Amino acid sequence: MSKESSKGRKEAMPSPSKAGSSRSLHRARITGLNHRGEGVGRVLGGPDEGMAVFVSGTVPGDVVEFSVIERKKNYMRGQLVSLLEEGPGRAAEVCPVAHHCGGCSWQHISYPLQLEWKKRIVVEALSRIAHIEDCEVRDCLPSPDITGYRNKVEVPVAVQRGRVVAGFYKPYTHEVVPSEECQLEHPLARDVISRMLDEVRSRKYTIYDERTGRGLIRHLMARVAPGTGERMAVVVANGYSLPGEAGLASSLMEGLDGLVSVVLNTNTDRTNIILGQKNKVLRGRYHIEDLFGDDELGRLRFRISPLSFYQVNSPQAARLYKIALDAASLDGGLVFDVYSGIGTITLFAAQRAALAIGIEEVGDAVRDARANARLNGIENVRFYEGKAERVLGSLLRRFGRPQAVILDPPRGGAEEEALVAIARSRPPAIVYVSCNPSTLARDLITLRAEGYRPKWVQPVDMFPMTPHVECVVLMSRL
Ligand SMILES: C[S@@+](CC[C@H](N)C(=O)[O-])C[C@H]1O[C@@H](n2cnc3c(N)ncnc32)[C@H](O)[C@@H]1O
Repeated sequence: MSKESSKGRKEAMPSPSKAGSSRSLHRARITGLNHRGEGVGRVLGGPDEGMAVFVSGTVPGDVVEFSVIERKKNYMRGQLVSLLEEGPGRAAEVCPVAHHCGGCSWQHISYPLQLEWKKRIVVEALSRIAHIEDCEVRDCLPSPDITGYRNKVEVPVAVQRGRVVAGFYKPYTHEVVPSEECQLEHPLARDVISRMLDEVRSRKYTIYDERTGRGLIRHLMARVAPGTGERMAVVVANGYSLPGEAGLASSLMEGLDGLVSVVLNTNTDRTNIILGQKNKVLRGRYHIEDLFGDDELGRLRFRISPLSFYQVNSPQAARLYKIALDAASLDGGLVFDVYSGIGTITLFAAQRAALAIGIEEVGDAVRDARANARLNGIENVRFYEGKAERVLGSLLRRFGRPQAVILDPPRGGAEEEALVAIARSRPPAIVYVSCNPSTLARDLITLRAEGYRPKWVQPVDMFPMTPHVECVVLMSRL
């Protein structure tokens, strides 16, 4: 649909960004999407004709008018001002703050197109970074739920025009966009956040200001267990106690069904990291318990503490784990689960193995993992606390050649020492679960140099409405 005439123009953003913006407007045709979720295109007309440009909030096929927010020698970054032509695959945004909030930057893209581009982003990263062209990259597995899937919600708190608000950061800033509800959060999470916010307001707690380092309340976090309905409320504060904290905890417990844990998390560091390392239980338990899995994977119970990692999209995580475990082809041997969190993959793997070894650096997660083994009556597992790159080599030497190594590192990928140790233990299968195609591609270079090649890549959509994509990669020896 052409929107060339000014009458037909669709105003896409309220105003250009102030920081470094130029008032003059440019035009571009968008032809693709990049791993940050931005539309990628070329400038139309003027002295910059043909220059590459990245514009958020666009889809391939759009012709847009944009203002420049960043200019480099070979490309510029633009802020969408108006849509002149709409590309196919544009979807209506349902969230009132979709344009401002950095939470779900692909809400304007139809779900089939999101899946298509997630696959393309994986193919492009493997090709550009690792020069892998000949590996089968499968279609991206759609998520059963495309909204309401996040079982963990963390919102920053701020004061705006004298009012305490909570919401999400505007892209590339720490400016809070107030939001009463988010399309992505699990239905059990919202009232935990809104009740905590009510308490913060009525108790007149001071709000943390990251410029001065003063003020008490930094973030609010809700964590919910979709399988049991248990819920956890975490107040993240720049201090070790809150005035009237017992009353706060009682009030939350009384007002919220299924709330089994109220925790004060202390973070006094001048940092972007949300949670500090110190937690105090104000009421209830230190953890929630979930019943996780599906008919295909099976079901296990997991306890989850505030600092422990837990996949945010539970139904899709069950499918991810099933793909990873099937790829490992376990038949009663030894398996290593590196970066094991609370032992989710390890405990499912143990049901197909003689012995499953989990390695994880976060102490609380390791304690959860050991408790989870007991909770499910699984005895053929061992969990080791430590950085994989430090402890993996000696553990692999001690336990001998594994039948498979599954690794699921954080976004930054694995350290080279860990990858080399894994490859040198010569397992028939290495199964790499990754939430970042760029670091995955980098790490595949190391594994290739150590004699492993990727057989196939299965992209899995764990994060609908965002450009993030998870992958399972099966690697075998050359
Ligand atoms: C993406 S999570 C995967 C957890 C688990 N596989 C799951 O699905 O729940 C990555 C985990 O690696 C842990 N981790 C990060 N860096 C690590 C390191 N250098 N050594 C060991 N564990 C690490 C994190 O604490 C986190 O639990």
